Parts: sequence; structure tokens; C-alpha cells
Amino acid sequence: MLAEMIGSAAQRGAQLTRQLLAFARKQALDPRATDVNQLVATLDPMLRRTLGEHIEIEAIRGAGLWQAMVDPGQLENALLNLCLNARDAMPGGGRLTIETANASLDRAYAEQHPDVAPGQYVMLAVSDTGHGIAAEHLEQVFQPFFTTKDKGKGTGLGLAMVYGFVKQSAGHVSIYSEIGQGTTVKLYLPRATAGDARATETGEATATVGGSETVLVVEDDELVRRYACNELRSLGYRVIDADSGKSALAIIETRDDIALLFTDVVMPGGMTGRVLADAARRLRPGLRVLYTSGYTENAIVHHGRLDAGVMLLAKPYLRADLARAIRAALSARP
Ligand SMILES: Nc1ncnc2c1ncn2[C@@H]1O[C@H](COP(=O)(O)OP(=O)(O)OP(=O)(O)O)[C@@H](O)[C@H]1O
Ligand SMILES: [Mg+2]
Repeated sequence: MLAEMIGSAAQRGAQLTRQLLAFARKQALDPRATDVNQLVATLDPMLRRTLGEHIEIEAIRGAGLWQAMVDPGQLENALLNLCLNARDAMPGGGRLTIETANASLDRAYAEQHPDVAPGQYVMLAVSDTGHGIAAEHLEQVFQPFFTTKDKGKGTGLGLAMVYGFVKQSAGHVSIYSEIGQGTTVKLYLPRATAGDARATETGEATATVGGSETVLVVEDDELVRRYACNELRSLGYRVIDADSGKSALAIIETRDDIALLFTDVVMPGGMTGRVLADAARRLRPGLRVLYTSGYTENAIVHHGRLDAGVMLLAKPYLRADLARAIRAALSARP
């Protein structure tokens, strides 16, 4: 099923790529002054557990590191994605290095990299001693659904999400790779200014938790719908899906076992996710709702931030994000 999805994604080609990149750049972010060293330290034990004994992890934490102005939860996801890629590149073991440093990108650097603004950044680099990336693939690795992994192993969304998140945070990503030597991905995150809020505590890394409740997935894009349904089923949930608000309402009318409505915000056919949710709650007052969206031009996301009390998962999302968001929505007060 996943292979099929990737196949059809490839057919839809450039248009889909543009569409998804736009998604990736329009996530709802909650940027705060963040201590990246502390975030790395918090994730460290989980990384060691996840990556396995055959991978040696070294953390080189820059002294006097500036604070970065980023969404700490998204940065955690980005770091995790980079570490998983590094692990996959070293099936026979190797060394993973996480490094932080202050970095001033000057005008000369910015001139060589047209999308970089000169200034002060917090650099977070993840290096591995793995198989490396072929030169002809280097241009493509940030594209959504580009993967060289076996079906079921990779969706090709990891780096697309990392890229989208960093670009939207006004940062910069660079990648270096040599076949047989390894790969380094560097994230340049904008330095938090003195006026930015004080450093925020980084949330504890949570494991991927599933459940057995029934979830109704409403999404008009077949590709995204299949992705979400597959992931939710693999997390143990019972899943029903609908491709429009209208058919979702018909389902809610006839079943009383649905614990959560997981709906896209923007759908064709006149019924937005919010209208659907309101109608659904009139039928089932206790129903939990989780929105998902790639767009900012909708009733839920304003200026990249969320209205209080509304739960939204930004597209594209990875399994861990989905798992966390679904669990949080299910345990929220209705
Ligand atoms: N550290 C790395 N070493 C070697 N190749 C890499 C590395 N990171 C990424 N790649 C290449 O880039 C591709 C795209 O990476 P990306 O993280 O976007 O997707 P994926 O890892 O294949 O799937 P997903 O992250 O969605 O599970 C990978 O399939 C791999 O070919
Ligand atoms: Mg990946």
C-alpha cells in the first residue's frame, strides 16, 4: 500500500512536490528562545535507546551557545529525523556526531547561497560515517517522497519536513556527503534576540504510543488519507475514512463508536473541517477533534500560530507526530 502510494506520488510529480513543499513551509509553529544544547541533552538517552548499540553517539556541545528562535518540538522532530537517517545509513554500525556551535554567516557566504540572509545563527549538525549520498541524489533528498529505502521502510518525508521547518523558521540547511565516507546535515537556526522570551524548557521526548480507539479520518487527498490510515492502523487504532465532510457526517450519524474525528481543514465541496466538526459535535457532543492542515489561509491558523484550544497537526507529518497528536487529542477534555 505504501509502495503504491509512493508510486502514484511519483506520477503526480512536480506538482505534488510543489504542493507538499508549500505544506512543509506553512506549518503552524510556536517559536521560542530555545537552548539547543539542553534540547540535545534531553533527547540523548532516547537516541541511545533508539539507535542501538552498534552506533556510537558523540555530542559536541558548543560552549556559550546562543539561544535559537525556533519551535522546540519541531526542532526535536527534525533532530530525530536526521538521527534516524544517520542510523539507516550505517547498518553495520558507525559513529553519529551531534554538534552545536555559534555561527556567523557573512555576506560572502550569503552570496554563495542565495537563500541565506547574513547574520547570527545557532548551528546544529548531525554527521554519520555511513554510506553517503550519490551526487545525483543530493539535489533530490529534500523533496517529499524521495526515498531510496525499501517499501515500508521510508516515506521520504523526513528531510522534507526538516527543510520546511528550518526554512519557515528563517534558517538554512546545508548537506555534505561523500560516498562511502558519510554525510553531514547542518541546520542554521536564527539566534534569538535579547527581546525574545526567555529560554523555554524543552519538552521531554515521548515514545510513540498508539491506542485501540476508533478514529474517523477525513481527508480529500487520497495519498495523504492512505498514509494517515496506514499509520493509525499500525499504531493499533481502528480506522474509518471518508473523503469529504458530507460522507463523514453520514458515517457519524450511523455509528456511535467513533472517539476522534481527525479532519483536514480545507476540503473541496463547501464543507470545511471546522463546519464538519461543529456539525459532528451537535450529533456527538463528546467527540474529540483533531485538525490537520497544510494551509495558513483557513479558519484555524492565524499568522502561523494556533487559536487557543484548537488542536492542529501540521502537514506533512511523520508517524511520531501523528501518534503524539492523536494521543493528545484523545486525552483532551472534550
Ligand atoms: N544520513 C544519510 N546518509 C545517506 N543517505 C541519506 C541520509 N539522509 C538522507 N539520505 C537519503 O535521502 C533520502 C530521503 O531522506 P528522508 O529522510 O527524506 O526520507 P527517508 O529516510 O527515506 O524516509 P522517512 O524519513 O520518511 O522515513 C533517503 O531515502 C536516503 O536515500
Ligand atoms: Mg528519513
